Amino acid sequence: MKKRLTVLISGRGSNLESLIRHAESYQVTSIVTNSLDAPGIAFGSEFNIPVEIRDRKDFSSLTDCKDAIFKAVQKTAPDFVALAGFMQILQPKFVEHYFGRLLNIHPSLLPLYPGLDTHQRALEDQQKEHGCTVHFVDSGMDTGPIIAQSSVEVLNDETVASLQQKVLTKEHLIYPWAMNLVASGDIQINERNVTYSKKALESAKEMNFKIKLGEQNGN
Ligand code: GAR
Repeated sequence: MKKRLTVLISGRGSNLESLIRHAESYQVTSIVTNSLDAPGIAFGSEFNIPVEIRDRKDFSSLTDCKDAIFKAVQKTAPDFVALAGFMQILQPKFVEHYFGRLLNIHPSLLPLYPGLDTHQRALEDQQKEHGCTVHFVDSGMDTGPIIAQSSVEVLNDETVASLQQKVLTKEHLIYPWAMNLVASGDIQINERNVTYSKKALESAKEMNFKIKLGEQNGN
């Protein structure tokens, strides 16, 4: 049986679209957003997926909005939850509840450049390499156990826009790749240690994704 995936978005939703289009061992069964204005909401009607909107403006406090988001996600009964450009810091109780089943995509080669403006900061630092990271979410800001990374070369005439586009193309590949393997059990997490089946390791190599190996891999 395919695993149920709830995707949280705040904006454009291009990673949401990629997760929907490349789903194999999971199915995107719900979309949750904290913004009525998120263009990505349109993918709900396009793919016939229910959207739960908990707009910040409808709540008197940020905490109330976050409580409502947590409740909405629980109501969708997900096996896994994916953050896809969800620009709100999650409550600790949310992260604890879904730890090991909650993934994020971030546009940098973590631990470099957590937070915002990652492309700008990489250019300012004259990095030769930049990229994106899929990771399990913990209570820190972009600090959770890393699943895989995909890198791009930063060219001499690179702009924020061109770099953003190049990295986004990689995001659209690596996020569904990781989600499919996590949902099939080929990528697992024990405590904070991410482990990979032989199939996952071979596939990462083929896709040119970087993973950091601990013990107990390739079984
Ligand atoms: C993506 O680049 C994603 O990596 C980033 O926001 C963008 C959302 O685009 N996420 C973060 O910066 C989270 N820290 P999308 O709405 O088109 O998927």
